[in-house]
Amino acid sequence: MANARKPFISGNWKMNHNHLDAVQFIQKLYYRLEKDDYEAVEISIHSPFTDIRSLQTIIESDKMKFHIGAQNCHYEPSGAFTGEVSAPMLAKLSVSHVIIGHSERREYFGETDEIVNKKLKAVLGNGMTPILCCGETLEERESGEANSKVEGQIRAGLAGITKEHVASMVIAYEPIWAIGTGATATSADAEEMCLHIRGVVAGVAGNDAAESVRIQYGGSVKPGNIAELMAQPNIDGALVGGASLEADEFAALIQYRNHGR
Ligand code: 13P
Repeated sequence: MANARKPFISGNWKMNHNHLDAVQFIQKLYYRLEKDDYEAVEISIHSPFTDIRSLQTIIESDKMKFHIGAQNCHYEPSGAFTGEVSAPMLAKLSVSHVIIGHSERREYFGETDEIVNKKLKAVLGNGMTPILCCGETLEERESGEANSKVEGQIRAGLAGITKEHVASMVIAYEPIWAIGTGATATSADAEEMCLHIRGVVAGVAGNDAAESVRIQYGGSVKPGNIAELMAQPNIDGALVGGASLEADEFAALIQYRNHGR
C-alpha cells in the first residue's frame, strides 16, 4: 500500500548564492514549475541567512508555495552568542524548516549529538520543523558500523522529544561519502538504511511516529537518479546540495515523476 507521506524535496544551498542570486533563482524556479508539481511535492529552500528576508518577501507577496528554510540555528533564544542566529529570529522570518546536525556542521563546527538535540528542541519549540541529518563515513560503512552510527545519532537526537513532535519531523539520511562526491548510495542501500531509521524511530517514539516521520535521502541526488530513489518505499524525499543551486536543474529534480514519460 502506498504510504500517506507527501514527498518532500529540500534544496540546501550551503554557503552559496547571495540575496540577489536568491531572488533570481526563486523567480526562475517559480516559472519553471506547474501547479501539479506543488500538489505532488513539498519544496523547501534552505538559503544562507542573509538571503532569507529577500526570499520571504517575494515568496509571500507572490504567494509561491515554497517553504522557507534555514541551514542551522542556535539553541538559545537570545544572548551573548556572537555571530549566531536563534530559532525565534528564524520563525519571525516565516522560516518553517531548519536543517539540524548536517554532517558539515558536525565535522567543521564541532556539533555533537547533545548540541543537535538542543537545537531540535529549539526549532520544535518555535513551531518549526527540523530536518535532522544523520549518516556514516566511508570507514564506518566499510567496517560494518553504519547502522549503529546512524542509530546512535537518531536516538541521541530525539532524546526527550515528544512522539507528536517526532511524527512531525523530517530525518535526512546523508551518507558522508556520498555528499558532493557524485557517488550516490545505490537506491537499495539508501532504502535499507531509511528502513532501519524508521525502525529506530519506532523504538524511540512508537509505530505511529515512525509511520509519519518523513525520511529524505541526501548525497549527490541529481535529476538522473532521483526517480529511482523516490520509488523506494521508505524514501520520502531528497535533501539536495549541488543540484539545488541552479533553478532548471532543481525544477527537473522536483519533476522527477515525469521522468521517462
Ligand atoms: P550534494 O547533493 O551536493 O551531494 O549535497 C548533499 C547535501 O549535503 C545536502 O544537505
